[in-house]
Amino acid sequence: MSDDKAQGFARGLTNYGDHDFSIYLRRSFASSMGYSQDVLKKPIVGIANSFSGFNNCHRHFPELLEAVKRGVLLGGGLPVEFPTISLGEVFLSPTSLKFRNLMSMDTEEMIRAQPMDAVVLMGGCDKTVPAQLMGAASADLPAVQLVAGPMMTSRHGAERLGACTDCRRFWGKYRAGEVSNQEINQIEGRLATTAGTCAVMGTASTMACIAETLGMSLPGTAAIPAVHADRLRAGEASGLAAASMVANPIRPSQVITEKSVENALRVLLALGGSTNAIIHLTAIAGRLGIKISLEKLNALSDTTPVLVNLKPVGSDYMEDFFYAGGMGAVLRELKPLLHLDTLSVTGETLGDRLENDPGYVDHRIISKASAPLEPQGGLVALFGNIAPRGAILKRSAADESLFEKEGRAVVFSSLEDLAKRVDDPDLDITEDDFMVLQNAGPKSASGMPEAGYLPIPKKLSAKGVKDMVRISDARMSGTAFGTIVLHVAPESAVGGPLSLVRNGDRIRLSVKEKRIELLVDDAELEQRRDTWVSTVVPPEDRRGYDRLYASEVGQADEGCDFAFLLPVDRQNT
Ligand code: FES
Repeated sequence: MSDDKAQGFARGLTNYGDHDFSIYLRRSFASSMGYSQDVLKKPIVGIANSFSGFNNCHRHFPELLEAVKRGVLLGGGLPVEFPTISLGEVFLSPTSLKFRNLMSMDTEEMIRAQPMDAVVLMGGCDKTVPAQLMGAASADLPAVQLVAGPMMTSRHGAERLGACTDCRRFWGKYRAGEVSNQEINQIEGRLATTAGTCAVMGTASTMACIAETLGMSLPGTAAIPAVHADRLRAGEASGLAAASMVANPIRPSQVITEKSVENALRVLLALGGSTNAIIHLTAIAGRLGIKISLEKLNALSDTTPVLVNLKPVGSDYMEDFFYAGGMGAVLRELKPLLHLDTLSVTGETLGDRLENDPGYVDHRIISKASAPLEPQGGLVALFGNIAPRGAILKRSAADESLFEKEGRAVVFSSLEDLAKRVDDPDLDITEDDFMVLQNAGPKSASGMPEAGYLPIPKKLSAKGVKDMVRISDARMSGTAFGTIVLHVAPESAVGGPLSLVRNGDRIRLSVKEKRIELLVDDAELEQRRDTWVSTVVPPEDRRGYDRLYASEVGQADEGCDFAFLLPVDRQNT
């Protein structure tokens, strides 16, 4: 039997120059793990397990893994778990995004190098699901994404708490002197109290919903709470579905298509989802040669209503979304706007799914498309001389009164500069100014952290200022809110126009016109460009992954992927 028709342990043999010896040796070593001869003949479903002691969001994976294994066995396969890198959002320095591509490479290569016929991807925390989908798309072996599921909320007095919108809300109150030291310490222990991903429509939840919309996860599984018995049933069903794909393979390249990516963009907009998701979806689609343009995002945004009333945009939490009908309800409301002939890992089209799923919906949480929370999508791309390749504003989480505004730039040249000066009582700043942060993009020393949510200077927050226009090449946590212009491309660390902004310049924002302009004449900008010097350490003065990252990472509008991970015919386009 040729290797490409081989199954289970006979797939992808280690090369000793003697084919039969390679099989003999592998079976012998596999036998040492206690497998019987019959088991050695089974097809294998690999389980990419991103459990880690540095990832609180995945702490229930040992139990979930058992459920996945049960499902694989029910489907006649042999479950074989393997570890990959895990990315626990708050445990990585300088930022988890820097390691997303590394995890995607780990996932892709381990799927390809090890003998498996299908794979279940167990991920959840912000960057893990994008990394796994990127890797699986490139490996193109039948794959099912199983997400961790969201945390349950907790209580502080009469208030419901959920990571991490409430983390920011209470921290803001603490900075403004409205919450005492003692209370903030109490709250610290109450923000995240169960296994699972952040309890709001942050990046993890948005990516879970996107994975389901793309068709890479089983229908109805995105929003099941991490600690609910249905999560274990979803694990079992995902294992079974992966085992079923051995006989009827459905590859990621059949599931992630132009049409399913467009559906995913619609869903992102209707959820008022995380700004990070546009970067991740661009990277996932890019692995299959599908390009997402920000102009396309705007066109879809103009015709997609915001339907989901979850924090940070609305008032509720992921467990409410689950009980309100979850993704099935959202997809039914959006049905006239969606491509219904897209395929999921079950072999069913989206149209079939919605046909067979009349489902319950609580319209207090998931609005009717005919009576949406907002008539237009949650995200909008802005263009102008400060962001020739675009920037992103989450208008659903912003203060509308700041949408058409001109302001004076107050510039921070780096995160260190911001930390040093933002709370200086002598800082020359008013609530009408625009805060500008430079050198926080993908190629900067900070690796594009979630720092775009610049803190309101203490002297203004103490006066009750809750929002200001803030502009940067950084990202923002999906759980944050405010009039925040992010992902400015090209970034300042490579000499993008953001690097030319000076204190006192005027900047004009118009969400209506989708413009952001630096009101400085071209001759002056040219002069500033001539004297600009890069402060970034060049790749040749670095080593290891840091060097690879510094030389290869793309800009935000390219999904921050490495160009060499794109399909070969797309690498130079
Ligand atoms: Fe893992 Fe928020 S920290 S999803």
